[in-house]
Amino acid sequence: MTDLFSKFDPLIEQRETLLETGITDPFNLVMEEVESPTVAICNGRRTILLGTYNYMGMTFDPDVIAAGKRALDEFGSGTTGSRVLNGTYGGHKACEEALKDFYAMDHAMVFSTGYQANLGVISTVAGKDDYIILDIDSHASIYDGCALGNAQIVPFRHNDIEALEKRLKRIPAGAGKLVVLEGVYSMLGTLRRSRRMVAVSKANGAMVLVDEAHSMGFIGENGRGVAEAQGVIDDVDFIIGTFSKSVGTVGGFCVSNHPKFEILRLVCRPYVFTASLPPSVVATAATSIRKLMDSADKRAHLWENSKRLHAGLRQLGFTLGTEEPQSAIIAVIMPDLEKGAAMWEALLHEGLYVNLARPPATPAGMTLLRCSLCALHSEEQVGEILGMFAAAGRATGCIS
Ligand SMILES: Cc1ncc(COP(=O)(O)O)c(C=O)c1O
Repeated sequence: MTDLFSKFDPLIEQRETLLETGITDPFNLVMEEVESPTVAICNGRRTILLGTYNYMGMTFDPDVIAAGKRALDEFGSGTTGSRVLNGTYGGHKACEEALKDFYAMDHAMVFSTGYQANLGVISTVAGKDDYIILDIDSHASIYDGCALGNAQIVPFRHNDIEALEKRLKRIPAGAGKLVVLEGVYSMLGTLRRSRRMVAVSKANGAMVLVDEAHSMGFIGENGRGVAEAQGVIDDVDFIIGTFSKSVGTVGGFCVSNHPKFEILRLVCRPYVFTASLPPSVVATAATSIRKLMDSADKRAHLWENSKRLHAGLRQLGFTLGTEEPQSAIIAVIMPDLEKGAAMWEALLHEGLYVNLARPPATPAGMTLLRCSLCALHSEEQVGEILGMFAAAGRATGCIS
């Protein structure tokens, strides 16, 4: 028998070598208590959360929690069914109405996760003979959507509009083309570089899908994302998003103005062949989405936090993923995995949680400490965070 697990041996060895140094496993942290969107108890210690993507801090919003409790009482704990069978409740339709209002679009489809939204929409709209042109730094769910639909994948260099245009022009005339772009690329926190990326795609006959997972709620005048901020929202064909970041629960969605959009409900396998979200989840999502429409003050405070952290970390001597803060993600580049893990652990001992990201998930083989800010981090907390980075950085030799 060939042990089908043998392909994981290099990873098992790398992990064992790291853990033999006595370091806390960075991928096995337990939140023993969660006090708020910005504070939890980890290893018995009060810990500031700086790696949760809870950008707008909606997880403890009293209206959101009340809506979830009410739905749990009135509709039970789960639907036990697909959206196309017994799994569509009033709450699912109300959630889709909230999304249509939020984006001012004609159609909205709720999936069980953002991962499934990308998987489903991409694989269903672009099939075997179609081409998907995508930024090389795209999220795994986008790549998996391409693989599921069996489309031809044409990657281009991160945020390189000339490369995108060149690739588009090389595709056979008449072929189906879908360009997939993200609003904010989550590894380095980079923004989609130019509004022209959408225009170039359309001019070359492609449909455009944008994943606004890390920009919804925060970027754009109404929090609709980078497509709104760049003034191209009416030109994109599909917007994908998630409830697991700014919305503060779990789930995913696609909104669109395409006149035939509703047919996806019958042909999109990751929508049809899975159970729908529990009533409590869609009730919390709908309430949160409606509140996000009216959150300009929180958006402004989140930008302030992001700028303050970025400037402070640079001043301390850390190398960051972007020259300027472009989003609520600030990536600190570590020299290697060992140093990154040591710094991650030192921060945890200080009382700060960030994400450790390592290859292959990261671009160019980098090890990153990814920080994601929350609109509910106070100015004092950002000051505390910088103090912890200074102490941990000096203790591990990452800064002098
Ligand atoms: C860009 C992007 N798209 C999609 C997803 C998937 O979202 P979900 O957590 O809802 O599955 C993520 C999650 O990290 C993401 O970063």
